[in-house]
Amino acid sequence: MNKKAVVLSMGNLNLDIYIKTDSIPRPDESVDAYETYMGGGGSAANFSVAIARLGLGSRFLGSVGNDQFGDMLIKELESEGVDVRFIKRVSHERTGTVIVIVGLDGSKRMIRYSGANLGLTPDDITKEVINGVSHVHIALGRTEIIEAAKRIAKSMGLTVSVDGGTPLARKGLDIIKDVIDGVDVWLMNSFEAKELGRSENVVKATENILNKVKVKELIVTLGPRGALLFKDGEVKYSDAFRVPPVDTTGAGDTFAAAYVVATVLDLDPIDKLVFANAAASLKVTKRGARSSPRLSEVLNFLESLGYAKLVKEILGRFE
Ligand code: RIB
Repeated sequence: MNKKAVVLSMGNLNLDIYIKTDSIPRPDESVDAYETYMGGGGSAANFSVAIARLGLGSRFLGSVGNDQFGDMLIKELESEGVDVRFIKRVSHERTGTVIVIVGLDGSKRMIRYSGANLGLTPDDITKEVINGVSHVHIALGRTEIIEAAKRIAKSMGLTVSVDGGTPLARKGLDIIKDVIDGVDVWLMNSFEAKELGRSENVVKATENILNKVKVKELIVTLGPRGALLFKDGEVKYSDAFRVPPVDTTGAGDTFAAAYVVATVLDLDPIDKLVFANAAASLKVTKRGARSSPRLSEVLNFLESLGYAKLVKEILGRFE
């Protein structure tokens, strides 16, 4: 039944260019890289691919340039089974590009050129785009887009998740609180939680956030230490799975997609965290933001770690 659920993701679609190195050059200095690779990126687009690989219907709304990278990125999404019909093309800007500097420990630093991504406006979020969708995910920090998407999705009775990243966190609680209020799932990493909640203690920071903003679920991802879920005044925690890290780019997007899939499947809170941690852990073992796992890979991984009951439950929910 849930197999037919369609998740709409809106936000950025980028060309990611990766450089793996153990040193960052100073002005006028050059350093050697161990390897370089490139591929599709953009948090919202990565999320869309992960949703499709995890077995739900996937639609993407974003904006790219009228250039060869725009063509390439749309084709790539299409080949993953993502519905690309509503992607906007703009002529006045080039497709968004991100330079990702990957450390030998898999950590990432990004330099972003937003370009054509900024061509997406609230007017592009029409009822037609949302028609046939069960859940709307907004993966960008632009409050005018979040506001419009939330309003339309809620007027159509849909659930909404937001992963606004650093750009949203940097705006501060007073500016974003009304925009986020009423969202079903709000995802952020621990850096963003500390910045928004103005405390170095993640739990304290989250309490400060939830004193001002009302959401059904707040998720704080902790990288290799797993994730926290704040819901109905309680905190739940699930550790990440130990894996050799190759590239953490897009791990948060994979986590968000798997968490939304688990939510659509109506799993228990801890099971949702376990499923999302497993998917994100598998992503980290491979290069690039689009190396999220397929449903079968996540289920095999969980089974091998003794989660046979959960695997059976997930398979049952897809019937
Ligand atoms: O979340 C990872 C993504 O952030 C990358 O793919 C990059 O494009 C940036 O938007």
